[in-house]
Amino acid sequence: MTKNLDWLKILLQCKDNIRRQITPIIKASQKSQSNLGIGAGGDPIKEIDLVAEKAIIETLKEHITSFTLVSEESGIIEYGENPDKNFLTIDPIDGTTNVIRGIPFFATSIAVSTRPALSTVHTALVADLFHNVTYIAQKGRGSYRDNSRISPSENIPLEEAIIGIDLNTYKAEKIIPKLTRLIKKTKHIRHLGANALEICYVANGTIDAFVDIRGKLRTTDMAAAWLISKEAGAKITSPEGKPLDVKLAPQNKVAFIAANPQIHKIILKTIENPEKEKL
Ligand code: IPD
Ligand code: CA
Repeated sequence: MTKNLDWLKILLQCKDNIRRQITPIIKASQKSQSNLGIGAGGDPIKEIDLVAEKAIIETLKEHITSFTLVSEESGIIEYGENPDKNFLTIDPIDGTTNVIRGIPFFATSIAVSTRPALSTVHTALVADLFHNVTYIAQKGRGSYRDNSRISPSENIPLEEAIIGIDLNTYKAEKIIPKLTRLIKKTKHIRHLGANALEICYVANGTIDAFVDIRGKLRTTDMAAAWLISKEAGAKITSPEGKPLDVKLAPQNKVAFIAANPQIHKIILKTIENPEKEKL
């Protein structure tokens, strides 16, 4: 029954439903939103996270009775009689702090897979909810930003590249030494606060790389962007250059480097051997 589902259409409907339902909350949310408990991923839940999650579940249920939800907020929930055929890994709002503080950079992230494993993700959507720009991918069919096929940047020297680096971590003293050489070699470092969207920026060449070696990003946040970057032709691997074959679960964390293939090679060397060359 699920074979003929038009997943892209369903994911786009999820995105439209989220935008409809969160708009009134965003208008009211410049004042701080209170915490509504702790999500399955370990962070405080805000109203906007729950409203967006509800909008996704509502839309999914209009099309499919059995599925497993793997959500940053509610954790793992099985629906229907055959929940092990379709897994929906979601971060309802990536960039919640941005929304609350009025920074117009936040997204929703939805990945569809046949197992709770990153390598089986076959359809993905990341939507910039403020600008209503949507990134989608299907396995073997490339990636699109709205209706245009996307690909990563090319031929950019490291010195000129725009490199996203997530340094949000309480273990800064462990992470920063590994990145010092990279930071010294570049002029344009960014972190915009919604990693799913930042990986999509790598996929379409807006930025040249995004590096998150903290080991702190939940798989729910990057499952969709992983497929979008791969299908676009970017490289996304572990900091050691290995494929990212991780289990999809809200508590499962991942470290990665996403970049255009040429910059990816350079970053890998720069991070791999931080003390090898003289700075
Ligand atoms: C967060 C964002 C942020 C990253 C955090 C994530 P959330 O996602 O992606 O950029 O630094 O590690 O938790 O919590 O807003 O879904
Ligand atoms: Ca989130």
